[in-house]
Amino acid sequence: MTDNLKTGIADGVMEIKIARPDKKNALTGEMYEALVAAMQQADEDVDTGAIFIRGDGENYSAGSDIGEFLSRINRTEEFPALRFIRQLALCQTPVVAAVDGNAIGVGTTMLFHFDLIYASERARFHMPFINLALVPEAASSLLVPARIGHARAAELLLLGEAFDAQTAVDLGLVNSIVDSSQLHAHAREKAVQLAAKPREAMRATRRLMRGDPDILLKRIEAEAMEFDKRLRSDEARQVFTAFMARSKS
Ligand code: COA
Repeated sequence: MTDNLKTGIADGVMEIKIARPDKKNALTGEMYEALVAAMQQADEDVDTGAIFIRGDGENYSAGSDIGEFLSRINRTEEFPALRFIRQLALCQTPVVAAVDGNAIGVGTTMLFHFDLIYASERARFHMPFINLALVPEAASSLLVPARIGHARAAELLLLGEAFDAQTAVDLGLVNSIVDSSQLHAHAREKAVQLAAKPREAMRATRRLMRGDPDILLKRIEAEAMEFDKRLRSDEARQVFTAFMARSKS
């Protein structure tokens, strides 16, 4: 489907590598489709007990591909990103992520759906939706305040501030900071540990910890409707066009 998403299964773990390093692992429609397929495969495969997600190179993901956003503005069909976001809410399999470098936009918001997150000292998290004249997605308008409280959430979602790995640990988003040379091996080992636990009890425990997925799905749809409106606004178009023009110059 795409060369920019690499998957493989070993030791009961589905490893997903976001592999578009020249574009800081920004996610295209094809990559979103491949992510959904990989996550569904993990859920359906009785031999897969955990998912491990990482980026290729020195970044996790710079979020959605901004050029694609621009080209899709006047189309009516649904963004593949939305199917991925719904899958985050529906996923049954525990997920471990290793974050090196930039995790921007959905690169950060997807993490709030995951279970164990390890970051390198150079990890940088950012949900810059407000700066792009957009609104939060992936149920982050619900999950971020719920996890870190409204006051801190306002710094990240209303002021649009970026934060570093230590702050991510302090906020309770990241489990621990691991030296970048050990990061992927460490996170993968945690995924192997999860996969070795009793599968049915693991899924049930995770389901209980996460609560009703319908609440997440409802928020995802509400955010998506607003996001779509914002995306078509003059203020968003100006920001995106400026980013792409900067890239070309
Ligand atoms: N969509 C499309 N292309 C992207 C991208 C994105 N989200 N993020 C990075 N890229 C591309 C750049 O256009 C550039 O392409 P080019 O080499 O063809 O010019 C390449 O990736 C390298 O990015 P660059 O900005 O030169 O690297 P940097 O180290 O200076 O900055 C980031 C890295 C991630 C901080 C910066 O690229 C950035 O802010 N990206 C946008 C992230 C964003 O707002 N995502 C949310 C979308 S909702």
